[in-house]
Amino acid sequence: MGMEIETTEEGLLARAPAKLNLHLSVSPPRADGYHDIDSIFQAVSLYDEIRFAPAAGDEISLVEDGIAEAERNLVYRAAVLLRDLGRARGKECGGVRISLCKHIPFGSGLGGGSSDAAATLVSLNRIWGIGATRDDLVALGARLGSDVPFFLFGGTARCRGRGELVTPLHDLFDAAEPLHYAILAPAIHAPTPQVYAALDRLRSSGIALTQTSVIDSIARVDLLELSAKGAVFSNDLEMAAYRLFPELEEIASRMRQEPFLSVRMTGSGSALFGLCRSAQEAARLTDRLRAQLGENVRVRVFGVQSLPGLRWTDRDGSARRR
Ligand code: C5P
Repeated sequence: MGMEIETTEEGLLARAPAKLNLHLSVSPPRADGYHDIDSIFQAVSLYDEIRFAPAAGDEISLVEDGIAEAERNLVYRAAVLLRDLGRARGKECGGVRISLCKHIPFGSGLGGGSSDAAATLVSLNRIWGIGATRDDLVALGARLGSDVPFFLFGGTARCRGRGELVTPLHDLFDAAEPLHYAILAPAIHAPTPQVYAALDRLRSSGIALTQTSVIDSIARVDLLELSAKGAVFSNDLEMAAYRLFPELEEIASRMRQEPFLSVRMTGSGSALFGLCRSAQEAARLTDRLRAQLGENVRVRVFGVQSLPGLRWTDRDGSARRR
């Protein structure tokens, strides 16, 4: 299941999935400080839960894991941005109580904050009856963060620009069996700007090379087979994150002793993921790593599978499972 939205007695309940970057190549910095990327994003079955309840007045309130959240939270900012669009279109957009229950580790490269923001756009579009199209929400999402547009498509997609230019690969990947992964999320918060800056430094000192992304040289139909084998792909931010957080590289080395098809970091880290041959293998390896690593390192281990893309019905401005 991708982003899932169900009706409850109070309003709506959204389940916002995490993502893995199966491949991530990074260009030198642009004039605006961002980096162009060429990446394959994959939504996976680890979810945050967000409840939306219409409320009297016109206040937007947000509670995260029982604690009132500040206005800098991406969910709150998504709600405000969408309300502005709705009101500009003559909709009332009344008050709403939002409560967020986090399961996706923060600062881990798993895209939890971005996914929560995307789920907020879709849910409140429905509650407020704004009728915004996916293109409308993608434009708002890109203002909130580079990874937000991806979550309005879900499934598997190639993302370029600073991440906001999304080309879905659903037709290719959704027809195949899901892929299974073990995710290891150490208790390390890897700030994205710092990891990108560390890569720039490694490149200017000649330690890391700037390479063109392999994706253009691969036939589209081969992307699925290569993803299923964990072959060819890489993440340019790995070396930078390992320099900043050497213990991450130790965990990656430990994972490489297990029979994963590949071991890689997602986004700017700190989570690492191993591709498994089957759901059974993922369950076995997650249990093993949880038992072994848990003793020495503060790390959370999840077994997940790849999710299909979202089907979008602009008629009611909602996203459904494909
Ligand atoms: O877009 P977002 O707010 O998620 O980006 C956070 C930070 O990550 C940016 O300010 C930038 O430092 C870095 N970044 C980047 N290139 C990207 C995406 C993010 O340099 N493509």
